[in-house]
Amino acid sequence: MLGISGSPRAGGNTDTLLAALLDGAASAGAQTEAVYLRDYAIAPCTGCERCRRDLTCTRVLDGMHLLYPKVEAADALILGSPTYNYNITPEMKAFIDRLYPYYRFSAERPGPYSSAFAGLGKAALVFSVAEQKDPAERGFAIPAMQRPLEALGIAVTSVFPAEGYFAKGAVAADPAILDRAREAGTRFALQ
Ligand SMILES: Cc1cc2nc3c(=O)[nH]c(=O)nc-3n(C[C@H](O)[C@H](O)[C@H](O)COP(=O)(O)O)c2cc1C
Repeated sequence: MLGISGSPRAGGNTDTLLAALLDGAASAGAQTEAVYLRDYAIAPCTGCERCRRDLTCTRVLDGMHLLYPKVEAADALILGSPTYNYNITPEMKAFIDRLYPYYRFSAERPGPYSSAFAGLGKAALVFSVAEQKDPAERGFAIPAMQRPLEALGIAVTSVFPAEGYFAKGAVAADPAILDRAREAGTRFALQ
């Protein structure tokens, strides 16, 4: 199971929740690894469409190429992002856009598409962290991760929005949310 933090803030709420989710999954027997997108220097997709021909990104040879093998090998993914302006962070958006080489497009415009991941049984849990408690204030953070993963043939079987956490140590200071995250991680691993 590969856990992916999209927070630029090291040791913040997203990292803490990711650790708790993976902890819960590990207690159910999953082999887990956490990666932090801020450590990888991932350039935005340029839309050159070369990946349609090359089946990987040959336009930008950056840290994303260290993550492609991990994404391919993982049977389960956890993606988490702080809410930034009702949405995910630029780090998480760049990561998701750079999964574009896994789409398999037909020649028609517009036309049907499929994914190299379709039918492989990959599953994902997505989570977000927000300062505000009103779910409206997290905006698109969850669907911004959920919908592209589903389009890529990865079943999003769990979502875990965490609301009411602002300061860097806020999640770490709340044993209740950490317990809920561990339980969610365990349930996800057992699915
Ligand atoms: C640029 C920026 C934009 C933010 N936008 C929102 C927002 O739209 N809604 C919200 O509830 N919280 C918002 N927040 C608060 C963060 O989501 C919150 O502090 C979160 O716990 C940060 O997670 P981290 O510790 O992993 O960085 C924003 C924070 C920053 C820095």
